[in-house]
Amino acid sequence: MKAVAIFTMLLGLFCVLNAASQITIDASQPKSDISPTMYGLFFEDINFGADGGLYAELVKNRSFQFDRPMMGWEVLKKSGAQGDVLVLRDDTQKNPRLIRIRIDNAGSGFGLKNEGFRGMGIRENAAYRLTLWAKKLEGEVTGVTVQIVTPHGNVLAESRVNGFTQDWASYTCELTANATQAKAEMILWFEGQGTLDIDFISLFPKDTWKGRENGLRADLVQLLADIKPGFLRFPGGCIVEGFDLSQRYQWKHTIGDPRDRIVNINRWNFEFNHRPAPDYFQSYGLGYFEYFLLAEDIGAEPMPIINCGMACQFNTCELVPMDQLGPYVQDALDLIEFANGPVDSEWGKIRADMGHSKPFNMKMIGIGNEQWGEQYIERYKVFAAAIKEKYPEMQLIAAAGSDATIFPNGRAEIDYLWSQWRILKPEFVDEHFYRQPDWFVQNTDWYDDYDRTGPKLFVGEWAAQSEGVANPDNRNTWKTALYEAAFMIGLEHNADLVRMSCYAPLFGHEDAWQWRPDLIWFDNLKSYGSANYYVQKLFSLNAGTQLLDVHGDKDAEGIFVSSTVDENTNEAIIKVVNINEEPAEINIELHGKKIGKGMAKGLVLTSDSLDDMNSIEYPQKIYPHQFTIKTKDDGLTHQFAPFSVTVVRVPIKR
Ligand code: AHR
Repeated sequence: MKAVAIFTMLLGLFCVLNAASQITIDASQPKSDISPTMYGLFFEDINFGADGGLYAELVKNRSFQFDRPMMGWEVLKKSGAQGDVLVLRDDTQKNPRLIRIRIDNAGSGFGLKNEGFRGMGIRENAAYRLTLWAKKLEGEVTGVTVQIVTPHGNVLAESRVNGFTQDWASYTCELTANATQAKAEMILWFEGQGTLDIDFISLFPKDTWKGRENGLRADLVQLLADIKPGFLRFPGGCIVEGFDLSQRYQWKHTIGDPRDRIVNINRWNFEFNHRPAPDYFQSYGLGYFEYFLLAEDIGAEPMPIINCGMACQFNTCELVPMDQLGPYVQDALDLIEFANGPVDSEWGKIRADMGHSKPFNMKMIGIGNEQWGEQYIERYKVFAAAIKEKYPEMQLIAAAGSDATIFPNGRAEIDYLWSQWRILKPEFVDEHFYRQPDWFVQNTDWYDDYDRTGPKLFVGEWAAQSEGVANPDNRNTWKTALYEAAFMIGLEHNADLVRMSCYAPLFGHEDAWQWRPDLIWFDNLKSYGSANYYVQKLFSLNAGTQLLDVHGDKDAEGIFVSSTVDENTNEAIIKVVNINEEPAEINIELHGKKIGKGMAKGLVLTSDSLDDMNSIEYPQKIYPHQFTIKTKDDGLTHQFAPFSVTVVRVPIKR
C-alpha cells in the first residue's frame, strides 16, 4: 500500500523523449470505502480564534472579568469632567464584577472607551447593535451616547440609550457606520449627573452568519462551510485540559444567557513567553450551543473533546483523584444529553429552551486531548464504562499523546498506549503530528503497516511546521502545503484504517496569534485560506466514496498518486502530487471500468516557489485553477506541473 512514487531523476529524460510514466488504477474492485468523515476541521480558541475571531463580539472584556478588570477599557475625562469609575464585586452574579460610574460633572465629556480585539472591524453602511446592562442609583444619568470612532477620534457611527431605571435592565441601540475601519474603537459618553451601575457592554455587527444575535463572523464560517467538513472537533486542543484543572474547559459554563457564562482565562494567554497575550480570555459567547449549531449549519458531525480529569501534561499535570472523578464523568454524560436528549430530559430541555428542540445527533466523543501514561488509562476506563453503559452507540475517541512518532516520552509511551487501546478497543485513536515538512513526504506510508484488527485512526491534529513545533517563525508556505498533500495521499491509501483527519490549528488572527502555521488567517475585516487550506479543500471536496488500488513504478520519489470513485457522481477521482521542480508526464490507465474518449475536469494547485504564501494582500496567490483534459479509451496522459497538487475527475461509463 505504498504511495506510488516515480523516479524523478528520469523526468528530464521523459521530457526530451516524450515518454510518459505509467500508472495503472484498478477500478474493478474497490479496496475499501472512504469515510464521509475522512476530512474534517479542528476548532480551538487559540490565536484569537473565538473571542476576537469567529465570535463576532467587538467589545473586549465586556463583563470586566479579566484579571485586570479595566483591561481593554479607558476612562475619558474631557475638560471639566469630574467623577469616578469603580470596580464592584457582586457575588450574586455568575460574573461578579461590574462598573459603578459616578458623574459629578460631565463637563465636555465623561466617557468609557473600549479598544476591541486589536481594534474593531467596522464596515461602511453596516449596522451594529449595542447592548448594555444598567441600573440607576442616585441622581439622573440621563443617557449614554454611543460612538464608534476611528483611532483618531473621527466618528463613524453614533446612537444613544436612555431611560435607566433602578432595576437592572438591558438597553439597546443601533448604529450604522459611515466608513470602513479595521481599528475602530467604541466610546460611551455619559450624560447628566449621578451614579449608574453598568455591566455586560456588547457591540455586534447585525450581519452575522445567518443573521443570528450572539452570532459568528459570516466570512469565517463561509470558509469553513466551503470545505464541506466531515466533522468539527471542538473545543480543542489543550484548551480542553487547561493549565490546571481550575482553568479547564467546563461546557456547562458555556451555555445559556451569554451574560451568565463564566469567563475563564485562555491558556494561550501565557503559554508562550515569545507571544504573550495578557488580554486573552474566554467569554464563551461561542459556547457549546453555538458550536453544535455551527456543526449542523456546515454539515459536519459534531466531535466534542472532554476533559478526563487531567490538566495539561505539559503544564501542571494536575490529576483528579480517582474517587473524585464522578462530577467529571457526569459532565460528559450530561453533555451527551444536552446534544441528543429528548426535550423532557434535564439537559435536552435546556437545549430546547435555547432554541433547538431537535437533537444534534452527536455520534462521537473524545475522552481527553493530548494525554498519556497510566493515569490516563485509569481515567479513560471510568469514562468509557459510564458512557458506553448509558449510550452504547456513542463512539469513543482515545488519545495517543501529543506526537504519534516519539514525543513526549519516547516510543515506549506510545507503545504502552497502543497496547492498552488494543485491549480497551475505543472506536478511534487520535494521533497528532506536528513535524517538519520533510517528515511528511518521508512518511506517506506511516499507516501502511498498522494493525488492521484494532481501533480505527483519527489523525486529529497535524500540520507541517516549516521551522519547528510551534516555532514563531513558522509560515504557511507552499512547501508545507505541498508536502502535507503528499502525506494525505498516504492517508487516503489507508482509508480503511484512517477514518478521520484534520489540520490544526484552524484560525490565526494576523495581529494576535500565538501559534502558527494555521489553516485560515484573518484580521478584523478580511480573511483568507492559506495554501494548506486549499489542499484540505481539494481533498475534502474530492474525497470520493470508494478507494481504488494504484500501481506504478515503486522505485521512485517525488510523485504521489491516489484514486477513488465517487459513487454519487459516477466518476473516478485521481489525485497526483508532484513535489519536484520538474513537470511530470504521466500516462494513467484505468482498468476495470470504461471511460471512453471524452473530457475530464481537473483542478490544479501550484506555485512557482516553495516559499510562496497567501496573505491578506494576496489571498489567492495559491489557489486552485480549473482545466479540462481529453480522455482516451482507457485513461489519460497529462503533464503534471512542478510543485503541484492535481485532482482529475473522470466520468465513468455505465
Ligand atoms: O493545535 C495547537 C495545540 O497543539 C493544541 O492545542 C494541542 O492539542 C497541540 O499540542
